[in-house]
Amino acid sequence: MCAQKITVVGAGHVGATVAQYCALEELAREIVLVDIIEDMPQGKALDMWESAPVSLFDTRMIGANDYGLTEGSDIVIITSGLPRKPGMSRDDLRDANVKIAKEVTAEVVKASPDSIVIMVANPLDVMTWVAYKVSGFPKNRVMGMAGILDTARFRAFIAEKLNVSTEDIQAMVLGGHGDSMVPLPSYTAVSGIPLPQLMSKEDIDALVERTRKGGGEIVALLKTGSAYYAPGVAVSQMVESIVKDKKRILPCSVLLEGEYGIEGTFVGVPCKLGANGVEEIIEVELNDEEREALHTSAAQVKEQLELVEL
Ligand code: NAI
Ligand code: 2OP
Repeated sequence: MCAQKITVVGAGHVGATVAQYCALEELAREIVLVDIIEDMPQGKALDMWESAPVSLFDTRMIGANDYGLTEGSDIVIITSGLPRKPGMSRDDLRDANVKIAKEVTAEVVKASPDSIVIMVANPLDVMTWVAYKVSGFPKNRVMGMAGILDTARFRAFIAEKLNVSTEDIQAMVLGGHGDSMVPLPSYTAVSGIPLPQLMSKEDIDALVERTRKGGGEIVALLKTGSAYYAPGVAVSQMVESIVKDKKRILPCSVLLEGEYGIEGTFVGVPCKLGANGVEEIIEVELNDEEREALHTSAAQVKEQLELVEL
């Protein structure tokens, strides 16, 4: 099972990495990379296509500077936007990236009116809301990627600390994709063993804090941009669940309309992803502290939404 066509808008670090992961898993017959930089998406697409005989995939890779070849895409992934530099918060990218997201979403709607949109550009929850508003698509067809990345970071740090396989770690991170995100140790387990049985509270708190600042840790090391390997594979996991109708439960940024007591904002919560996009929002039980942290995080996203001019 695979999509006929996937478009990735923005052929920079994240866009190119997403395209490559999706091709390696043959998640589409055709992947179109679109960017405003002349010839660059064509060059990257050709380079990826030339890797196909070695990597053994048949997904056709195409580069473009407009949306003609993207027509009729099943899934559109929007990565176009500025990344952070050291010292910047994701919210510092808001105005520049809102402008890009508005333009790009309008083009996506014209070329692929039935597509499912996965937003990646930052500040993630705000950009996803922009795509939702500008597209007019139903809420099940507009979602943002952040929770899989944040959860993967938490899982990687736990695996490192306990010296165990990453495969055995399940975790959950809710909230907006910012430093107020809400990692949930109470829903984190190693092969079914609750994390608090394996690690002290101090160690858990330290890993939670590192997870919250995980994006900034990479920015401080790279100095010229932000993470892309883990974000790229995280997006491909969402794509896989949709195109194969796997109905995986994955944390995604989605529009809440009363779930968790939150209204009218995009924020990360566990969702069932299948052929229809977001097929269900799962409400997990939270204690008072966790619920308050989620509400604080959602309120921070909402504050940013109020500063956006559509
Ligand atoms: P990048 O700078 O490597 O790539 C961005 C690309 O977008 C550039 O090639 C640029 O030419 C292109 N672009 C700009 N305006 C465009 C337009 N109107 N149409 C088409 N293409 C356009 O940046 P990178 O590292 O790929 O990051 C992209 C975005 O994703 C950033 O906003 C970053 O903060 C965000 N991000 C979000 C993550 C998440 O968890 N949601 C994880 C990692 C990055
Ligand atoms: C990250 O968390 C840049 O938001 C991105 O790495």
